[in-house]
Amino acid sequence: PAELPKDETTEEESLLQTLQQQNNWDGVPMCLYQGIWCPIFLLRPLLSLQKNFKPHDTSILLASLPKAGTTWLKALLFAIVNRDRFPIDQSPLLTTNPHKLVLSLECYYYVDQVNPDLENLPQPRVFSTHLPLNVLPPGFMINSTSKIVYVSRNPLDQFISEREFLLKNRLLPDCEPPLPLDQAFDMFCEGVHAFGPFWEHILGYWRASLENPDRVLFLQYEDMKRDTVSHVRKIAEFLGLPFSDEEEKRGMVGEISQLCSFEKLKNLETNKTGVLHGNVANSSFFRKGEIGDWRNHLSPDMAERMKEVIDAKMSGSGLKL
Ligand code: A3P
Repeated sequence: PAELPKDETTEEESLLQTLQQQNNWDGVPMCLYQGIWCPIFLLRPLLSLQKNFKPHDTSILLASLPKAGTTWLKALLFAIVNRDRFPIDQSPLLTTNPHKLVLSLECYYYVDQVNPDLENLPQPRVFSTHLPLNVLPPGFMINSTSKIVYVSRNPLDQFISEREFLLKNRLLPDCEPPLPLDQAFDMFCEGVHAFGPFWEHILGYWRASLENPDRVLFLQYEDMKRDTVSHVRKIAEFLGLPFSDEEEKRGMVGEISQLCSFEKLKNLETNKTGVLHGNVANSSFFRKGEIGDWRNHLSPDMAERMKEVIDAKMSGSGLKL
């Protein structure tokens, strides 16, 4: 990370001393900041982002918990937004991992912790974030007409996907060893996990989508798996980039869905062999891509416990996970 001016470092350190701290199950230290469990290595980027990030009216932000379908949505957003720039058979998605085409805000602020140049990116700017809505810069929803696409996923599948990913890709090599599955699951059910509690994360965006349906689109991984094509249409309409009759006739919606499908992306050379951020294999973003894989890892009692958590936390929201 870039070197920080002295006063910024001190500000972060003194803030950290006031915050509750706990390791995630994978050993990564986290702190409870504004109600979310933030990995400590992201606290400085988060503070800078809150202070400095200015959305443009045309900016598009993909928000998600890790392992809820971020890679898939990055690919879809990139393909939809850039469909006039690249024919499908020349799409950069064929040679580049989606995470390199749509970068996360946290990542920009991690690499240049003070003030990354986000003004000169191609328009419209498309970013992703794992941050909950309540920690985005104050005024984010009020001071712009930028759009947010949120994707949620069944928490049991998301937890297992995250578990498998983090066991393969240790984010901090020198931290404590990972906890066993049952202890990790206990923590998850209590909301103690990166960017958690998951129910706060999901409900924050869910409520915003009800209050501002033209600003926040709330999607569910499972719905998208069942019917990708109509969701691609829905996303394009939401972004104000609906498919024309001519594009429909050419079958472009189906082509984009195919290009971004799990099977297609997983089997591309770039995603089979490349690496992201030095040590994370591109291939680890494409594991099974299924609904219900949790059944191969978690007991019925664990699932029942999660159902109780979800019933308690989601009750009255109108949202079914
Ligand atoms: P599994 O581990 O259950 O297979 P994220 O992109 O948020 O990191 O989430 C990764 C999860 O999404 C993984 O789930 C991965 O296999 C799945 N995934 C990746 N690309 C996908 C695609 N194009 N379609 C459907 N699922 C996809």
